[in-house]
Amino acid sequence: MLNSKLLITLLTVFSTISFPAEVFDFNNAANGGWKASPELTEALMKRRSETNYSEQRVPKYTLPNPLVLSDGTRVTNAGTWRTKRRPEILELFRKFLYGRAPIARPKNMTFKVFDLERKALAGLATRKQVTVNFTGKKNGPKMDILIYLPNAVKTPVPTFVILNFGGNHTIHPDPAIKLSESWMRPGSRGVVKNRANEESRGRSRARFPVEKILKRGYGLATIYYGDIDPDFHDGFKNGVHQVFDKLIDGERSADAWGAIGAWAWGLSRAMDYFETDDDIDNKRVAVLGHSRLGKTALWAGARDERFAFVISNNSGCGGAALSRRRFGETVERINKSFPHWFCENFKKYNGKEDDLPVDQHMLIALIAPRPVYVTSADKDLWADPRGEFLACKHASPVYRLLGIKGLGVRQMPGLDQPVQKGAIGYHVRSGSHNLTEYNWQRFMDFADMHFAAMGRN
Ligand code: GCU
Repeated sequence: MLNSKLLITLLTVFSTISFPAEVFDFNNAANGGWKASPELTEALMKRRSETNYSEQRVPKYTLPNPLVLSDGTRVTNAGTWRTKRRPEILELFRKFLYGRAPIARPKNMTFKVFDLERKALAGLATRKQVTVNFTGKKNGPKMDILIYLPNAVKTPVPTFVILNFGGNHTIHPDPAIKLSESWMRPGSRGVVKNRANEESRGRSRARFPVEKILKRGYGLATIYYGDIDPDFHDGFKNGVHQVFDKLIDGERSADAWGAIGAWAWGLSRAMDYFETDDDIDNKRVAVLGHSRLGKTALWAGARDERFAFVISNNSGCGGAALSRRRFGETVERINKSFPHWFCENFKKYNGKEDDLPVDQHMLIALIAPRPVYVTSADKDLWADPRGEFLACKHASPVYRLLGIKGLGVRQMPGLDQPVQKGAIGYHVRSGSHNLTEYNWQRFMDFADMHFAAMGRN
């Protein structure tokens, strides 16, 4: 019989993946993979001395093993992953990071198509605009979905859904796009009004190559994230929080959803609409987001398996990057700068990343076996490109268990060399924190590969 000490040692060994922070030989050119520019690293370290931008200062860390149950049992087959470990990890992310959505699909939610133009964009597309009224009540919270579908595609269209930062009217100058509603936020110099006016039409066009997406045979659906929950800390009084939050003795619980949880929930409500629209191939909907909305896309895809493909663009801390590396933005920093994004429990891990029962490779693993694509940008060290790559790498064993190749490489690829070998795609693009056409083209390459293999219905 095993004595208990030995048993505990064995459990500890099996329940974690132990390795030193990937040791990098900066002088070894043969390594080939991406490395941050030493000049940029030095400049950033000077500018933000409290932030670590140096690989040499990444502490040794041990990642929790996605394939070991919390009672120490190893997960050796797809059934146990599906019925035991996946729900367990999902619950940990709910409880400790993004919070719990108080409601699934609201009973009285309504969809109203208020615009349908079959000859939009000079005949290239069908444009629809749909109001989702979450409570069905006149003054309740609502979001507008703007949809473009290519007319050249005669069957239901595989579609990318993405939250936008500035309002639906900012993604394209099409004058028929309804101006998104603005919201006011207290700023350091008085009240700041989020600009929703005629001048801001098409302002974010560079991030949304609408015509090019349509010409590749994909649809695009977008929603202004502020419709779901305005992005500032007001004690959760506005957006969907005001109507759905459940208070216990007047208090929110430590695992009540934050803004990211609310935005992700809103994406699922858009999916509810897609399921009612015969022009959209609801079995091939990709959810995509940039930056804080990349974090949101990962969480939306993890919790809602109706999303067939999940894309995180430069999502960084609380998104695709491993928290335990403490490189660039840290848990403490993000919770202090954006106290409304995560649930209250996450704050307990400020400076205590090693105590978190999860790390972000497990968020990616929740998407398995569906395809997922993670991007980094060369100059975006704040989001920790290597941490994003490593999360993909350490999610791969879950894909393997499910009989699918995950990332398919061990070392970080070189700059602008996309890895598209398995169900996890990754690239580090030259340039700064942004969503560019290069990104979109790679996402569509990946969608071409994976969607073709998925049967419709
Ligand atoms: C800040 C924040 C990041 C976030 C980004 C964004 O830089 O620190 O975590 O991803 O904003 O959403 O633009």
